[in-house]
Order: sequence, then C-alpha cells, then structure tokens
Amino acid sequence: MSSRPVANPAVSASDVPAGTPIVAGLPMPEFRRIGVEPISGACGCEITGVDLRQPLDAETLAEVMKAFEQFLVIVFRDQDLTPEQHKAFSRYFGELTELPQAPTYAGHRDMQEVRREAHEPENVVPSFEHFHTDSPFLPTPPKCIVMRALEVPQWGGDTAFSNAYLVYEHLSDGMKTLLDGLQVVYSGKDIWAKNEKLDPDKRLRLRESHDFTEDQLESIHPAVRVHPETGRKALFATSAYFKRFVGWSEDESRALLAYLQSLAQHLHYHCRIKWQKDTLIVWDNRFTLHRGVHDFKYERRHLIRTTVVGERPVGPAARQAGN
Ligand SMILES: [Fe+2]
Repeated sequence: MSSRPVANPAVSASDVPAGTPIVAGLPMPEFRRIGVEPISGACGCEITGVDLRQPLDAETLAEVMKAFEQFLVIVFRDQDLTPEQHKAFSRYFGELTELPQAPTYAGHRDMQEVRREAHEPENVVPSFEHFHTDSPFLPTPPKCIVMRALEVPQWGGDTAFSNAYLVYEHLSDGMKTLLDGLQVVYSGKDIWAKNEKLDPDKRLRLRESHDFTEDQLESIHPAVRVHPETGRKALFATSAYFKRFVGWSEDESRALLAYLQSLAQHLHYHCRIKWQKDTLIVWDNRFTLHRGVHDFKYERRHLIRTTVVGERPVGPAARQAGN
C-alpha cells in the first residue's frame, strides 16, 4: 500500500506561514486560558485548567469550543460531576436529546450508559467493533457525545477515534466527486427484532421503550458531510445502521462501503484515549468515527453520557445550491 501524507492536503503552503505546525489537519491555534495538549497529529487533545463543576466564563468557553472545533475529541481528567453538572456542561454544545436505542442512566431520560459487566463477553456488540458514528438513522443525528467514566478496567477498554475530515481530504478527486453525489439510507428500525434473534449472551443492551416514531428511525443522509459554518467536508458513511447508497444495489453499496470503512482504519487518522475514573470526553459525532476497544476481560467498564442533537446533515450539493 502506498503511504499517504499525514498533513492535510487541503491546507496549501500559501494558507499559512512557512513552518507553521499542522495538527488535526489545520495550523495549531493559540490558547491563553486553557492548557491544550494534542494527543496525536490527527485528532484529540487533553485540556487542563478547567473545572467542569463550575459555569465557564466566556473566554474559557470560547477556547474550549475552539479546541473542540479543531481537535474534534477533547479530553478532561478528574471531573467528578453530578449528573446535573454533566448536563449543564453538555448544554454549552447544544440541546440534549434522548436516543431510542441506548439504555438510560439511573432514571435520567436524557442520559445514557455504556456498561459491560465483568462476566460479559468481549464481543457483545459486533457491529460497533468497527469505527462508526452514533445514531445516523435519526433525521438530526447527534452533534456530539459527552461521556464520563465511572468505572474502567485497569488496562484496556480505550476508545479510539478516526478523523473523518482527513479520510475525505486524502481521497482522489475522482473518488471525492463520486462520493459528493451519493446519499446513504440509514435505518435503526430492525435493531430490536435482530437483537431478539441473537443468543442471550450476545444481545445488545437496548432501551426497551421510547417515544420515537417509526419515521424517525430511518433517514437518508449525504455520504459527504459539510460543516455548516466552515464548509470543510468529511466522509459520513459507516457500517452501523447502513442499508445502501441511494440508487445502488445492496451488493454494490457493501463493496464501496467496505473500501471506505477500510480507509478509516489507517492509524494516521487516529487518536486513542485511555480512560481513567472521572475522565470526561466530548467528541464530535459528525466529523469523527469512533469505537470502543474491547481488549479487556473480567473487569467492569461503565461510562455515562449525554447526547447533543446536531443539525440535519448538509451535503456538498445542498451547500452549493445555498440550501
Ligand atoms: Fe458508539
């Protein structure tokens, strides 16, 4: 396989002064109020100097948002928050949403939990063992997830992320043109029925009832997603809940999707976060893919989260038409 450049080919030498370091595909911004340490060259940073139990002042908040925009995955350590503090911080990113499929946490309808008990097998969630975006079947899939660790294995159980902007930016012009015109059908309608058919120890832990309509469980979205403000484009096609590309057969769709999915595996698009108790991560669910790494055994992993609702995904065609 040929090697690909790590830096963002969308950033030309004329865009930034010579010698400016590029990280997560863009020049490193300046931060004055918070500490920001990039985790890899591709995405993710650790932020220090912020106590999320308190309301954030305007300048600190602006810098947190700048870090989120650039790095897509922001990590805070030692944040011992109550559920109300967790929700209050999450609301800086937008309105919280329930999810039809994810189990709720401790009676909070607007919080979810990800839990694997010590006795449960590694592969309880096969389709989520691949890089994916959460809940793409919704008409307005999540903008971001705010997740905090309550209990984690001593070793392993990381979460890995892949920068979907970089995946797109490294494609050839021909492939970009093809994908720019494609739309994807995502559906979450059959997950409960499919789950019932699995062996009990392989079943997903799904929410048992919800108020979403059938229509809200299936959507058509662009395969390339455009940031509504910056216009930057990212790949938005992954295997979880994927049905087909519009106008393509299922076989054709699966073949192209498998290729696209393979690109997201490249290490030079990734960062990987080691959880500790009270680590809090916010990740952009529009422009990254993620996956839990189930490389641990006989230990409990318990994470809780809020989900912030996003905009309806905008594709290249709609943006060009000014829609
Ligand atoms: Fe996920």
